[in-house]
Amino acid sequence: MRCLVTGGAGFIGSHIAARLLKSGHEVLVIDDLSAGKTKNMPEGAEFINSSILHITPTDLEGVDAVFHNAASKKNICLIDPEYDMTVNGIGTLALLKLSVKVGVKHFIHASTGSVYGEVKGTITENSPYNPVSYYGVSKLAGERYVSLFHDKMKTVILRYFHVYGPRQEDDPNLGGVVAVFKKQIKDGGIITLHGDGSQKRVFTRVEDVVEANLAALHLHPSGKVYNCCSNYQVSVMALAGALIRKADKPVSIKYLPPLPGDIYNFDVDNSKILQELGVSFSGYKL
Ligand SMILES: NC(=O)c1ccc[n+]([C@@H]2O[C@H](COP(=O)([O-])OP(=O)(O)OC[C@H]3O[C@@H](n4cnc5c(N)ncnc54)[C@H](O)[C@@H]3O)[C@@H](O)[C@H]2O)c1
Repeated sequence: MRCLVTGGAGFIGSHIAARLLKSGHEVLVIDDLSAGKTKNMPEGAEFINSSILHITPTDLEGVDAVFHNAASKKNICLIDPEYDMTVNGIGTLALLKLSVKVGVKHFIHASTGSVYGEVKGTITENSPYNPVSYYGVSKLAGERYVSLFHDKMKTVILRYFHVYGPRQEDDPNLGGVVAVFKKQIKDGGIITLHGDGSQKRVFTRVEDVVEANLAALHLHPSGKVYNCCSNYQVSVMALAGALIRKADKPVSIKYLPPLPGDIYNFDVDNSKILQELGVSFSGYKL
């Protein structure tokens, strides 16, 4: 199959692209390099350096499956919420319309647990939407557009949570907490921790997220939404503690104010993806 991976120069997209190539698929990456890096892309992938806002039907010619991972990052949503919505909402709609036009059969969409906001109790796919960040709102718009196209292509929405692994951005303003803490320990031995550290995360290995994307392609579900994560709840403080214990030098913690819109409780039910897509999540290993 010819597969398009948007955001394929980024963290998760580059792993999906590599895995698709390994399985013998043709891979086209479209990325504007606003956050991604060409060195992340696997050898053998074709590349169009473009925003999803500017692509044309010619760019998508012959594509059978789209893995839509391009998104404006959480830090952009704080600086420029209008642009964040343009990319995550309007950009997704534009890509959907073009995909239908060129005859794409599968559209596998990277959404996020941020669409739920802070939920009391366990988060299931039927929990109400209550995003508490601009990013959560724009990503919700994106996935709602995907739902509208379920009768035109096989659409699957995967709501990722706290993905970590190789090539994750480690800049404290942009990156995920596992990569950021690891880099801070390596560089200076001072971890910066927002809030009191009691906020829970369901850390999920990028390799498992990739397998979920492949299962969504090969098992042909359609119009489905899945929580795509492990269900191992770990506090950010516990993560810091585990990394500090592993470090071979003294490490201190600098406390910073909580991040706006940060969510403290994540108790996520992932049974639907386990049962229907047969994906297993292997917990968090540092
Ligand atoms: N990393 C996580 O824990 C996590 C959690 C929930 C959801 N997600 C979602 O997963 C997807 C991938 O996230 P990631 O962590 O790999 O982020 P990332 O920033 O590493 O990758 C996103 C890529 O999209 C590209 N991009 C941004 N705007 C673009 C545009 N307008 N046109 C084309 N390319 C553009 C960036 O350059 C980057 O390479 C995103 O949709 C994100 O919302 C990630």
